[in-house]
Amino acid sequence: MTVLTRSNPSKAPAPTAQPLSSRYHAFLSGDYTTARQWLAEQFAKASAMADDLPDTPDQLQAWSARHAAQVAAEHAAYLAQRREGAPRRYFANRAHALWFLQQVAPTKVVDGAWLHGALRHWQDPRYHGLIRTYLEELGDGDPHCNHVLIYQRLLGRLGCLEGLPLEDERYLQGAVQLALGSCVEWFLPEIIGYNLGYEQPPLHLLITTHELAELGIDGHYFQLHVTIDNAASGHSSKAIQAVQQLCPAQDAEVFYRRVRHGYRLNDLGTDTPTLISTFDLEAQLLAALERKRVFGQFMHADRCRLQQRTVNQWLSEPSALPGFLQALVAQGWIKRGQNPADSRWWSLIDGPGAPMFGVFNAYEKQLWHDWIAGDWQSTVRRVPPGSWEAALHQQPNGEQRHEVIDIETLIERMAGNQHALPQGLAATRAYLRATGLGEEGPH
Ligand SMILES: [Fe+2]
Ligand SMILES: [Fe+2]
Repeated sequence: MTVLTRSNPSKAPAPTAQPLSSRYHAFLSGDYTTARQWLAEQFAKASAMADDLPDTPDQLQAWSARHAAQVAAEHAAYLAQRREGAPRRYFANRAHALWFLQQVAPTKVVDGAWLHGALRHWQDPRYHGLIRTYLEELGDGDPHCNHVLIYQRLLGRLGCLEGLPLEDERYLQGAVQLALGSCVEWFLPEIIGYNLGYEQPPLHLLITTHELAELGIDGHYFQLHVTIDNAASGHSSKAIQAVQQLCPAQDAEVFYRRVRHGYRLNDLGTDTPTLISTFDLEAQLLAALERKRVFGQFMHADRCRLQQRTVNQWLSEPSALPGFLQALVAQGWIKRGQNPADSRWWSLIDGPGAPMFGVFNAYEKQLWHDWIAGDWQSTVRRVPPGSWEAALHQQPNGEQRHEVIDIETLIERMAGNQHALPQGLAATRAYLRATGLGEEGPH
């Protein structure tokens, strides 16, 4: 009998209906009381799913090499299509990309969290590959290299810090990752399996990196994962080593079955290309307007009229918003299919001297921009990945004061995304010193 079945006994409470977002936030705040039971429910779902793993762990290297070769071939085909003039495959416009970056933010800002529990096993060399992977997600405590911070800085530069209201499912993978990180003593094989799936660089990562740069968005976060997760020596190969090193001599089959269940958790929820394809520019613009409507409906003077109705009247009910957009076009305030700068409406919302300065955030202005521009193409400056990040690069100051803190406390400070705060970054560096698990550079 496996721990999996033991951890999901028939007399266990029925699955709870707690929204994923509140579960995610509870985990982030360090409350993991429901994590084990909830994960057992997710594994029960995963046990009925299919996967593409080989039959035995000794075939994983060949499986990973095949996967990498296939991704490389599909990427080459994508690049060839683009050279022949095919449009971008994922992002129709910049607003689409900004929308996507916000949709996946709950997952990206807990990058690596599923491996947190491995930190306690620093005295066991079989865990060192997983621990090294986790420490690299944390940038070894260097704020410039911490993946969570890199993503948060990216959102900040793009004016997307406040975050969009998201569908509950957007919190699923982040909640899975946080829960796994807190349950290593029960679900080690599943964590190893989840890690194996997450660390295989997918095709969508390569396409996303390419198209973000094309849209003038710094794709450093994505570019970084193309290299750091590589199958030859990166996180992907460490993930395979972990399966092989931590597989017990007895019950190897049970172990590998549980690895599969963990691997399949990567497929819970909507996959990235499907998520990207659900973007609807006009629907997002209307949703942004609806968020403003409640505040804006009493803010306009009655002389602000559009087609016989005051702006306050237009904003008085959600059903009027599509008509409001049409009225802006009919009145000539918006000229679709042209440079937005030619539209009077744009001059009202964009620029520090605009009468409506600050009403729409950077993402919302991008929605307006792209809705107005339509097929009119602006010349976007292509950005080499990491150009902004390189400018930020600065070595952390040498630790002036070595506070004596026990290792358990250090590990606690590296959980969830606490490691991206100053105290967590310092704890990561102290953990490296205490365990001797830091990596030396060439000398
Ligand atoms: Fe990462
Ligand atoms: Fe990774």
